Amino acid sequence: MKKDLISIKDLTRQEIMGLFNVAKSLKKNPLSKNASLAGKSLALVFQKPSNRTRVSFEVGVFQLGGNAIYLGPDEVKLGVRESFKDAAKVLGRYADGIVARTFSHDDVVNMAKFSSAPVINGLSDLLHPCQGLSDLFTIEEIFGKKKIKIAFVGDGNNVLHSLLIGSSILARDIHIATPKGSEPDSGILNEAKKYAAKSKSKIIVGNDPKKCVEQADIIYTDVWVSMGEKSKKVDMETFKAFQVNEELLTCAKKDVLVMHCLPAHRGEEITDAVMDSKSSIVYDQAENRLHVQKAILLKLLGG
Ligand code: CP
Ligand code: NVA
Repeated sequence: MKKDLISIKDLTRQEIMGLFNVAKSLKKNPLSKNASLAGKSLALVFQKPSNRTRVSFEVGVFQLGGNAIYLGPDEVKLGVRESFKDAAKVLGRYADGIVARTFSHDDVVNMAKFSSAPVINGLSDLLHPCQGLSDLFTIEEIFGKKKIKIAFVGDGNNVLHSLLIGSSILARDIHIATPKGSEPDSGILNEAKKYAAKSKSKIIVGNDPKKCVEQADIIYTDVWVSMGEKSKKVDMETFKAFQVNEELLTCAKKDVLVMHCLPAHRGEEITDAVMDSKSSIVYDQAENRLHVQKAILLKLLGG
């Protein structure tokens, strides 16, 4: 039976650890002859723009000997020129896998339902599982299994949702500070709390950025307005207190590391000084998208 990756919860803890092992070895040996998608094609069908997701998947497939076909927002016109269902049914007949970037989360869920080929969620308004998995891989690379504090500061969005699910499955503690009203989705939070109860990890949600980053090993942030929120009105005055700047870093551990999924709005959620500081690991984090997604592709399309 085909396997999709719509949410990190589609994978068990063991499967995630297996992916990380493969990613680690692919990072050392990117063109490994033992890992192959020769003769396979991956369709990337995106309703929103992308740099990292598109390029890391395209390069990844190429390094594995397969082929990528990019279909941008103006090509298939998902839901406009044809239904998500028809697009998924047809793409599944041609390609061995589909990476879909949608606005509505239900649309990527539906594509997985109707495609005979595995569907990978390349970001929806609700989740960004490939990001969450690579970020947890980056964290594991640096800290191993050590117990650390991850502090997410900013908007309770898709990137946070996947980080929440992934960290609770992998038994990582996560502390969150968002402005009031911008907390993570309650359904996702409840889901993550169930995994956290099983893995005995902590999830703490609040509205105080300074308290959130106290003794933090990692501070993570993302944009205040996501691609799917064009009509959202942000109260910049309120959000300003959640900016990851040098002052906020002084409240965390001395050697705190800063993560951001990118693209960043420098001067809004994060300052230039922090982005360009030695605390920032944003480019290592971006690079790991390539290695982890190659492992995902081998697992889902490789068989
Ligand atoms: N982080 C990330 O997914 O970036 P893109 O939107 O550029 O793909
Ligand atoms: N939260 C951001 C992530 C971009 C990778 C967005 O959805 O636009």
